[in-house]
Amino acid sequence: MSFKRHIFIVLALSLSLLHCKKEKPNPEANVKVQDTSQASNQAGDSKNIGTPFKPIIPLGLDEDLNIPEDNPLTAEKVELGKLLYFDKRLSLDKTVSCASCHNPDPKLGWSDGKAVSDGVQGEKGTRNAPTVINSTYMMEQFWDGRAPTLEEQAKGPLTNPVEMKMPDHGAVVDRIRKIPGYTPLFQKAFGEEANIDNIAKAIASFERTVLGGNSLYDRYQQGEKSALTESQEKGLKLFFGKANCTKCHVGSNFSDSDYHNLGVGMTAKKPDLGRYEITKQEKDKGAFKTPTLRDITKTAPYMHDGSQKTLEEVIEFYNQGGEKNPWLDSKVEVLHLNEEEKKDLVNFLKALDSEPYPFVAPGPLPE
Ligand code: HEC
Ligand code: HEC
Repeated sequence: MSFKRHIFIVLALSLSLLHCKKEKPNPEANVKVQDTSQASNQAGDSKNIGTPFKPIIPLGLDEDLNIPEDNPLTAEKVELGKLLYFDKRLSLDKTVSCASCHNPDPKLGWSDGKAVSDGVQGEKGTRNAPTVINSTYMMEQFWDGRAPTLEEQAKGPLTNPVEMKMPDHGAVVDRIRKIPGYTPLFQKAFGEEANIDNIAKAIASFERTVLGGNSLYDRYQQGEKSALTESQEKGLKLFFGKANCTKCHVGSNFSDSDYHNLGVGMTAKKPDLGRYEITKQEKDKGAFKTPTLRDITKTAPYMHDGSQKTLEEVIEFYNQGGEKNPWLDSKVEVLHLNEEEKKDLVNFLKALDSEPYPFVAPGPLPE
C-alpha cells in the first residue's frame, strides 16, 4: 500500500507516550511480564526533554513498542541514535559500526549475510548476527537473552573483543565527547553531555523505529485474500497446524521470546550451550532464543551459528525433528511433510517479508 508502511525512520509526531509492559506472546500460560523499572539507568535518570515521538506502526505489528519509562521516545534521541548507530568511530580502529553487522541494506535485512560476523581487525565471533528489525518486541536481547533491554544490549558490542573492541565504556564516552559536533546533540536529547547510559538510550531509541511489517501475510490476514498464492495459503495452514511452527514462532513478531534446544550445533566438539551459560540450568543446555521470522528471506544463513544456508535446508531440518541430543525441546517432532508441503512452507515464509523499504543512511556524521 503506501510508503508510510515501509520500514523507515518515521517522522510522525504524537503526544502519546507508550508505557512499558513486555508480555510474551506465548499461548500456553506462563506469560512473563517484565518489570523494566529495575533495568533503569544506574547513573541516575537523565532529564526527560525533547519532542515526543511515535513511529507509525506497520500493519501486523503490536502498537506497544515496549518503551521503558526512563527512556521515552523523542525525535532528538532517535536522530542522535541513528548517527551513533552508523558511526565507526565507536570502534577501536574506527572501522566497524553497528551498521556493519546489522546493515540496513534492504538486501541484508539489517543483518550481515555472514554465518558469523567480522569485527575489528577481522576478528570472528561465534554467533550469527540477528536482524535488529522489530528487536524492540523481544523480551530479552541476544541469542541467549543475556541483556534485558535494548539499552543494556547496546552497551555490549562496544567493548566486545570480537566486535567493536573498545577497552571500556569510559573510552567510548571519551571518543564521543572529543567530537564537538555531538555536544549540542546530546544537550538537545538529554540536557547533559554524553555518558554511556545516554549513548545506549539514544541507540535503543533509534532501534525502536526500525520496524518491519505490512507483509503479504499481514495483508492477507486483514482480508486481502489475493495477497497469498495458493501454495502460500497451504503453507500458512501447515505453519499454524501440522508443522507446529507456532509452538514457538508466535505473535505478531513470530517469536515467543523463549529459549529452545533444536539441536543446532550440538554435534560440535565443544557446543555453544546458549541459554545455559546464563542460567546454568540443565534444561537450558543448547537452547537459543526463538528468532523472528519477519524478513527471513534476507537474513540467510540461518540459526545462531549460521550453519543452515537456505530456507529449504531449515525446513528439512525441522521435518527430521531437529538434531537428536539429550536436551532436545519436546516441541520439536518429526513432521512427515511431503515434498510439496515443504515447498508450501518455504513459500509461506517468503510472504513474511516486509513491504520493500528504502536504504536507511545517516547523512553526514558530526565532526
Ligand atoms: C561485529 C559484528 C557486530 C557489531 C559491530 C554489532 N553487532 Fe549486534 N549482534 C552481533 C551478533 C553476532 C549478535 C548475536 C550475539 C549473541 O547473541 O551472543 C548481535 C546481537 C544484537 C542484538 C540482539 C538482537 C536479538 O534479537 O537478540 C541487537 C539488538 C544488536 N546486536 C544491536 C547492535 C548495536 C546497537 C550495535 C552497535 C552498538 C551492534 N549490535 C554491533 C553482531 C554485531
Ligand atoms: C521448539 C520451538 C520451535 C519450533 C516448534 C519451531 N522453531 Fe524455528 N526456531 C526456533 C529456535 C529456538 C530457533 C533458533 C535455533 C538455534 O539457532 O539454535 C529457530 C530458528 C528458525 C529459523 C532460522 C531463523 C534465523 O534467523 O536464523 C527459521 C527460518 C525457523 N526457525 C522456521 C521455523 C518453521 C518454519 C517452523 C515450523 C516447521 C519452526 N521454525 C518451528 C524455535 C522453534
